[in-house]
Amino acid sequence: MPAIEVSNLQRAFSADFLAVAGIDLQVAEGEIYAFLGPNGAGKTTTVRMLTTLLRPTGGSARVAGFDVVDEPAAVRGAIGVALQEAALDPLMTGRELIRMQATLHGIPRAEGRRRADDLLRRVGLTEAGERRVGTYSGGMKRRLDLASSLVHEPRVLFLDEPTTGLDPVSRKAIWEEVEALNREGTTVFLTTQYLEEADQLADRVGIIAAGRIVAEDTPTALKAQVGKPRMEIVLAEGDAPDCIDVLGRFGDPLPPKDGTLMVEVAEGAAAIAPVVRALDEAGIVVESLDVVEPTLDDVFVAKTGQHLEGAEDEPDTGEAEAAE
Ligand SMILES: Nc1ncnc2c1ncn2[C@@H]1O[C@H](COP(=O)(O)OP(=O)(O)O)[C@@H](O)[C@H]1O
Ligand SMILES: [Mg+2]
Repeated sequence: MPAIEVSNLQRAFSADFLAVAGIDLQVAEGEIYAFLGPNGAGKTTTVRMLTTLLRPTGGSARVAGFDVVDEPAAVRGAIGVALQEAALDPLMTGRELIRMQATLHGIPRAEGRRRADDLLRRVGLTEAGERRVGTYSGGMKRRLDLASSLVHEPRVLFLDEPTTGLDPVSRKAIWEEVEALNREGTTVFLTTQYLEEADQLADRVGIIAAGRIVAEDTPTALKAQVGKPRMEIVLAEGDAPDCIDVLGRFGDPLPPKDGTLMVEVAEGAAAIAPVVRALDEAGIVVESLDVVEPTLDDVFVAKTGQHLEGAEDEPDTGEAEAAE
């Protein structure tokens, strides 16, 4: 039995708009599956339907063997959920919050206390557990929310953009925790806008755009589909259109991004010398020129004609990580 089984799932928010426009997917027990897609793609709407927080307007879904519409209580008992915008009471301490979750799941007091201790240790918040959540950094809140979603030892864990906006250190801490949980047997469904998160963490990736899954496979297989290395060029002098004309002799030009011109070069680094000579002859001076291997963004471009917006944005590193 798959951990998650989705058939033609749909969610309309108005007569002419489907936020989720008929998706099919299966996640095997023990897998980490990532939904990779830009803002507005339908990731949260899907997670809300799979976690019984929102009713589908079409299709069906089973989680841990239970139907999300007909057996919502059984689904909720089997899953943990950490939402994109976790509503954590700032006046409660981390420990109180986890113990309240334990109570909500009907776990006896002594056992709830034990699990709160274990979970706080797991996510590195033992000391901070005595402090009010309002004093936590973004990374600490995410770790606490993750811990509290685990209090009833769920078989399937849903994480909606677990690391969006976090600094790299906090992000890595979450990744390690997700990997550890998965090694212990938890199935994970996560959503992300970050290429490397999907690439590094997921066994399989579904690329979602405008409510549809446009590609789905292992990260390696997805990148192999688009195949070709590409050359990225930033100009110092000369016109972009002139440069694109020259590049077009060496391969198919790709849509430019943030002033960087791109062209597919099947032969990879071997294309560098002839391209540089040709640009030189055309009076074009480059500031930088690189050959890069395909990424999941290339898969997104191949499927949608657009870049995964914000895909290569650096996460917010300005966040001050409060001392623990
Ligand atoms: N409650 C709602 N009412 C109307 N439109 C919504 C609602 N929730 C989401 N949407 C729309 O559905 C689309 C998908 O949203 P969402 O699932 O939140 O995307 P993502 O999580 O991938 O950013 C967006 O166009 C969003 O504006
Ligand atoms: Mg979302």
